Amino acid sequence: MNKQHRIVIAGCGGMSNVWIQELLKRDDAVIVGLVDVYLSQAEKIRDAYGLDSGVYTRLEQAIADTNADLVIDVTIPDSHFEISTTAMKYGCHVFGEKPMAATMEQAREIIATADATGRTVSVMQNRRYDANIRALRELISSGTIGRTGMINADFFLGPHFGGFRDVMDSPLILDMAIHTFDQARFIIGADPVSVYCHEFNPPGSWYKGNASAVCIYEMSDGSVFCYRGSWCAEGSPTSWEADWRIIGEKGTAIWDGVHAPYAEVVSAGESAEPKFMRDTVRVEAPMRWNGRPGHAGGVDEMFLALKEGRPAETDSRDNIHSMAMVLGAIESAKSGQKVMLG
Ligand SMILES: NC(=O)c1ccc[n+]([C@@H]2O[C@H](COP(=O)([O-])OP(=O)(O)OC[C@H]3O[C@@H](n4cnc5c(N)ncnc54)[C@H](O)[C@@H]3O)[C@@H](O)[C@H]2O)c1
Repeated sequence: MNKQHRIVIAGCGGMSNVWIQELLKRDDAVIVGLVDVYLSQAEKIRDAYGLDSGVYTRLEQAIADTNADLVIDVTIPDSHFEISTTAMKYGCHVFGEKPMAATMEQAREIIATADATGRTVSVMQNRRYDANIRALRELISSGTIGRTGMINADFFLGPHFGGFRDVMDSPLILDMAIHTFDQARFIIGADPVSVYCHEFNPPGSWYKGNASAVCIYEMSDGSVFCYRGSWCAEGSPTSWEADWRIIGEKGTAIWDGVHAPYAEVVSAGESAEPKFMRDTVRVEAPMRWNGRPGHAGGVDEMFLALKEGRPAETDSRDNIHSMAMVLGAIESAKSGQKVMLG
């Protein structure tokens, strides 16, 4: 019998639906409280799912009344720091939506609070939970293409969201790119060292802020990660998972974000007799991962980590490196300088 976690949901907007639908399927979770700055919003969600959970405007009160041990933070990015530090100080672990916080100072303080309280903060990075990306990661870590030199991700889509994204300063980098940056770290198993970013708003863009960017990262394994992205690119879209080309000393790995990844590597015996263009062979990626995709997979990993008493794959101590890639890129775009990421 699994331990049943007593859960308070903080933030009862759009994403709370995704979490609640997932939690209602589990035998290790019971939703005991709903918090929103607007009580009517919490009541609306309670009624929509027929929950008998208490509704609150203050997280402290919700935790104290319900004896909760876990808080799901689906508030807006500017509230994540306050919600996760309060939850930990009141004895709860936190599963939070991305981004972990709004600034690097806040992210560091969240980790310090986790250290001080012995609680954990796990961040949702749903694009890690996918059989194809796991196969690509194994293709790279098993040495199929040799040591990695260059990782390229192209992300070109033209979504017409309307609403807050259309008026943000850096909609692509701030709202979306953390997924692709976190994927890059996950695929190659390295962290960022520096970034140079050029952000711009091309002709035809329907966004007020910069909807396109090129970012160059030096990574801790000596490789270079090059990101080219746009959220105002009409026609011939890439997938939301991005289009990947990873070049190693023995060959190239390819993933279009949709189909199974593969590599093309120099044929055995080619080094004995060098020629102008060497023959290559195609190597299929090992499709071994059989977890649930997307959000469901992220939720599974967070609960399993709690059960096993270990940090989740996307623990705050890991996720701060993906945050650094986002905030460093914005800083570089503003200053026009390369930014070191400590
Ligand atoms: N992983 C993904 O693919 C994905 C997709 C969409 C959104 N998100 C993230 O999910 C989070 C929530 O997004 P959303 O679309 O549900 O936003 P939303 O604006 O629809 O909902 C947020 C809710 O939080 C409430 N809130 C704000 N501050 C609060 C506080 N201090 N205490 C209690 N309630 C508070 C608001 O009143 C609102 O009801 C964001 O961080 C967003 O980036 C992630």
